[in-house]
Amino acid sequence: MFRIALIGAGNVASHLAEALESAGHRITEVFSRRKKNAVMLAEKLYQATPTDKLDFTASKADVFIIAVADAALSELLHQLQLPPQAIVVHTSGTLSMNLLAILNRPHGVFYPLQTFSKHKPVEWQRIPICLEASDKATIDILAQIASDISTNVYAISSEERKQIHLAAVIACNFANHLWHIAWQILKPIGIPFHLFRPLLQETLEKAMQMPPHKVQTGPAIRGDIPVMEQHLALLTAHSPLWAEIYQLISQSIAETAARTVAKT
Ligand SMILES: NC(=O)c1ccc[n+]([C@@H]2O[C@H](COP(=O)([O-])OP(=O)(O)OC[C@H]3O[C@@H](n4cnc5c(N)ncnc54)[C@H](OP(=O)(O)O)[C@@H]3O)[C@@H](O)[C@H]2O)c1
Repeated sequence: MFRIALIGAGNVASHLAEALESAGHRITEVFSRRKKNAVMLAEKLYQATPTDKLDFTASKADVFIIAVADAALSELLHQLQLPPQAIVVHTSGTLSMNLLAILNRPHGVFYPLQTFSKHKPVEWQRIPICLEASDKATIDILAQIASDISTNVYAISSEERKQIHLAAVIACNFANHLWHIAWQILKPIGIPFHLFRPLLQETLEKAMQMPPHKVQTGPAIRGDIPVMEQHLALLTAHSPLWAEIYQLISQSIAETAARTVAKT
């Protein structure tokens, strides 16, 4: 059992706190610059102390997990005061581990590769957790904690993590935005988005079984210009920006197909 303090009370901190306590660890403190957010999270935990102060010199925590907005990390590190025994990690997909070196102690990264929203439960056992650490003893501690909540634990360098995060933004955040556009197109004609569930599930399953470009379908890969022109006219009425996105993605699909044919 490790004593763990959480710096941050947002999406990641909330999900991590509950998963870690369910796995037998203890959250000692929860920090949020707005104390009410720390209080709200601490109330769901066993015995965590909520705080809006960054002086933790009297804390008994073994591990500090910093889960704050990426843009806030550097400034926060300048104010953070930790007890001598503690190791410190951040949960960012993009920030380098070395940012934590200014704290002069063992440090690392504990990056869960999942999209978290505060009130939507997640299945932690299946979430890949990407770890990195400044030294062997620290990676061993992080691996122990990570494997208590997930069966998918990986050692990933800062450079690899940046590429993973980029790919995740495209595969998850961009795909979600495209679903939003589809949802907006269906809404005025009263068609519910869940009609698309079998279509989206089949697309995901195929992309997990073989390289996605090999299962690409639709007018762009067929070079079906009349259909694409009709779609562009319909889309422009919704939003000229969405029409531009349609054109760019169609171009990328056609170029990918042409490159693949040229290679074979
Ligand atoms: N969300 C995801 O799906 C996800 C997945 C994996 C990794 N991550 C990473 O995990 C970290 C936290 O993300 P999140 O989604 O949990 O963020 P979030 O829900 O937006 O929460 C952000 C936290 O940062 C605090 N914060 C914001 N600006 C601050 C500042 N200037 N000074 C001090 N604290 C500040 C907020 O405090 P207040 O409560 O006071 O506003 C809040 O506790 C990020 O590095 C993110 O890249 C996120």
